[in-house]
Amino acid sequence: MMKKSLLASVLFVAGFALATSVVAGNNLADRHAQNGLECAQCHVEEVPSKAPKMDMCLKCHGDSYEELGKASAGKKPNPHYTHVGDKECAVCHKGHKEPEFFCNDCHKFKVQVP
Ligand code: HEC
Ligand code: HEC
Ligand code: HEC
Ligand code: HEC
Repeated sequence: MMKKSLLASVLFVAGFALATSVVAGNNLADRHAQNGLECAQCHVEEVPSKAPKMDMCLKCHGDSYEELGKASAGKKPNPHYTHVGDKECAVCHKGHKEPEFFCNDCHKFKVQVP
């Protein structure tokens, strides 16, 4: 009897862990959380209400668009050095939903946005 209820609780815990790992999504914000980031490291606000500005992203990613563009210079097309200027990161890198390669409003690049 003891053994059975112990087994049941082990299964319960395992099932719970599985359920939460499925619930935890894989959007950009989730992947940052997996690297230990708090919401406020992107958002400034403790209780986020709007999209973060790119200055927040650049604190950790290259300091400037220029540096970011150098880092991705080998990519075709380079998504960070373009004829449309320095766009807000979230135009392509969505925090909590599917990313979007906005260049393809006009072009047909085969590109995956992380
Ligand atoms: C406090 C530091 C920090 C901030 C702020 C931050 N990031 Fe990151 N970012 C990281 C770390 C750490 C990783 C994971 C390691 C890596 O790939 O460099 C990462 C990874 C990424 C990746 C690659 C993800 C992947 O799964 O391939 C992208 C794209 C990215 N960040 C974009 C952004 C954008 C856009 C913002 C602003 C909305 C932002 N980051 C804000 C630290 C930060
Ligand atoms: C026009 C869309 C677009 C915008 C705007 C954009 N990115 Fe990206 N980003 C991409 C794409 C596409 C990739 C993947 C490049 C590849 O691997 O081919 C990428 C990759 C990255 C990566 C992964 C490392 C790398 O260089 O491959 C980071 C970090 C990143 N972007 C950060 C940023 C930050 C920070 C901003 C804003 C300052 C930003 N991006 C703005 C499209 C964009
Ligand atoms: C990688 C940086 C990043 C992290 C970490 C992050 N967010 Fe966001 N968040 C964004 C971006 C970018 C947007 C703009 C909308 C989008 O792209 O989904 C956003 C938008 C939002 C919004 C506004 C909703 C809207 O439709 O514009 C809320 C609320 C929010 N985030 C809450 C949170 C909470 C709560 C956390 C922590 C659990 C968090 N965010 C962590 C990047 C981040
Ligand atoms: C509003 C429409 C529009 C958007 C958005 C746009 N482009 Fe363009 N792009 C054009 C036009 C028009 C040309 C010039 C005609 C041509 O050469 O195809 C061009 C030319 C180019 C070229 C040089 C020509 C070539 O095909 O080698 C590259 C590279 C390019 N764009 C990349 C980008 C990238 C990367 C983005 C996103 C950051 C982007 N474009 C966003 C319309 C756009």
